[in-house]
Amino acid sequence: MNPAVNTPSIQSKLPHVGTTIFTVMSNLAAEHNAVNLGQGFPDFNCESKLIDSVTAAMRQGLNQYPPMAGVPVLRDAIAAKIKALYGHQYSAANEITVTAGATQAILTAILAVVHAGDEVIVLEPCYDSYVPNIELAGGVPVRVPLTPGTFRPDFDKIAAAITPKTRAILINSPHNPSGTVWTTEDMLRLQEILAPTNVLLISDEVYEHMVFDGQQHQSAVRFPGLAARAFIVSSFGKTYHVTGWKVGYVAAPASLSTEFRKVHQFNVFTVNTPVQYGLASYMADPKPYLDLSAFYQRKRDLFRAGLKPTKFKLLPCEGTYFQCVDTSAVCDLNEVEFCRWLTTEIGVAAIPLSAFYGNGFDQHVVRFCFAKKDETLHAALDRLAKL
Ligand SMILES: Cc1ncc(COP(=O)(O)O)c(C=O)c1O
Repeated sequence: MNPAVNTPSIQSKLPHVGTTIFTVMSNLAAEHNAVNLGQGFPDFNCESKLIDSVTAAMRQGLNQYPPMAGVPVLRDAIAAKIKALYGHQYSAANEITVTAGATQAILTAILAVVHAGDEVIVLEPCYDSYVPNIELAGGVPVRVPLTPGTFRPDFDKIAAAITPKTRAILINSPHNPSGTVWTTEDMLRLQEILAPTNVLLISDEVYEHMVFDGQQHQSAVRFPGLAARAFIVSSFGKTYHVTGWKVGYVAAPASLSTEFRKVHQFNVFTVNTPVQYGLASYMADPKPYLDLSAFYQRKRDLFRAGLKPTKFKLLPCEGTYFQCVDTSAVCDLNEVEFCRWLTTEIGVAAIPLSAFYGNGFDQHVVRFCFAKKDETLHAALDRLAKL
């Protein structure tokens, strides 16, 4: 007799998670041969110098397990960069940890500090991993909206959301999807609100090097009252046009880094060696990240100029590589229907902002990614010109 062949049923830990809109739109874009301005990644290559650095590391035999927290030369380079840009000296030995992208960094920080029943404040619209990450840790996401229309933080609402159960708040500037950038006043206000609390800060700064029109990125690192309670998260994927490499880092005070590393150690343990060495030597030249804002500002301007004659209302884009537009004057479809129609009928894929809200809040705004070759942007603009 054969034993019964039967996969036991399980209770989902993330019952609300299905196929993401990013996958849905990318599949639809491929099916309809649409220009894909949906998912946020460049369609151009990184500098060959970076590939050469990684290749050289592989050829030198740097292919075995690195130290758990990352190779020392890369942690030194990260600490030096943060000091040069934001004026705070982290200990490379104890306060910088290299991660498998910002995604793992954020999940690990949450798993390290959030206990069952703890509340974690997220500001919606927000990156899609935040809420499932909090739920995986047994925490309770507390959603506070950014101001509709401007996407600026509403500090009265944030202050009102803090309770004795609040363990952490997640912020993201420059902001995906809206492209807003928090000002010095915003950061000071947050510092003031958090000062009397034990609330930790997880500051997602993956677009730190894409800030336009002479504005400065206000890293939480610059504000001592924030830095002392913060996990600062960044990503080499965004900065060096290598999103597929999935390497990022976390900077946090030693006591927070110790707890972070306990989880990191038994999760990914560490991150691939040759890419770390390659990044470390490439980082010796600050030019690539110092030039990045100008590089993307030119693309933003090209894309915005092309959209100007259309009925789209352009929202401000202060940073990131995303341009949001209000579609109400084009037609009255809701955001998801609009994106489907735009992909299938016009041949350009975008992402509905409702995908970044837990309740699918619809404000007739969609997001385009302009991290694309000029020819890709022109191809999209040619198609969008009829709207
Ligand atoms: C706001 C934000 N945080 C985190 C990430 C993830 O970064 P990584 O690819 O390094 O995991 C992204 C990627 O799109 C993002 O937009």
